[in-house]
Amino acid sequence: MSCLYVVGAGGHGKVAAEAAESTGRWSEIVFIDQKYPELERCGVWPVVGGSLDEVAPAASDYFIAIGDNLTRYRVFKAFEEQGFNPVNIVHSSAFVSRHSQVAKGSLICSGAVLGVGAVISECCVINTSASVDHDCVLGKSVHLSPGVHLAGAVSVGDFSWLGTGVSTKQVVRIGANVVVGVGAAVVSDLDQAGVYIGVPAKPIQRL
Ligand SMILES: CC(C)(COP(=O)(O)OP(=O)(O)OC[C@H]1O[C@@H](n2cnc3c(N)ncnc32)[C@H](O)[C@@H]1OP(=O)(O)O)[C@@H](O)C(=O)NCCC(=O)NCCS
Repeated sequence: MSCLYVVGAGGHGKVAAEAAESTGRWSEIVFIDQKYPELERCGVWPVVGGSLDEVAPAASDYFIAIGDNLTRYRVFKAFEEQGFNPVNIVHSSAFVSRHSQVAKGSLICSGAVLGVGAVISECCVINTSASVDHDCVLGKSVHLSPGVHLAGAVSVGDFSWLGTGVSTKQVVRIGANVVVGVGAAVVSDLDQAGVYIGVPAKPIQRL
């Protein structure tokens, strides 16, 4: 049993800590946040420092709980290069097929479902009650918000963010750096980076 350092003491961090606690894998869970020492707690967990490298012993387990996809990935890689140990967190109530893959740095939240053959790359967030059906492939640092439903064999590119309740048709390809707004239905490929909304999902602006 060991200590898990969660970087980012916000709401998302609290969700990550609770998921980590549900696994029983760590005897202690603490937060690192730049707001330390003014910020002393995140939910029931203590904030113990402002920077991981100043506080944590070498090779400590860490998890980055920063909402912004690009920032989360950059911070994740920086600490990995410094020799800390990146972990993934899978909530005890999630269903994760033994024939799926979840890379380091990813969070699978309560009630989420990962189907057979699903591949989740580094630093992704599969949020509360989201489902990723068979043979879906997610690039790095993708965020599926609560209640997203990907049908079978869908791909989502690096750093893309699907808002709450987004649903997709099977086999569609969503490119990198795509944002899909709350409640949209993706029924055809979204290849270009940009923001898409509606049923069916259409672009509203280019990034
Ligand atoms: C799509 C989104 C990114 C757009 O954000 P934004 O660029 O700040 O856009 P705005 O909120 O200024 O809205 C711009 C217009 O699009 C409309 N709009 C925004 N999101 C929409 C959506 N999901 N569906 C339909 N219309 C939407 C707004 O009503 C507004 O219309 P108007 O110009 O006629 O008033 C955002 O609304 C969204 O859906 N984010 C996802 C949030 C989420 O899922 N969070 C989960 C966190 S875990």
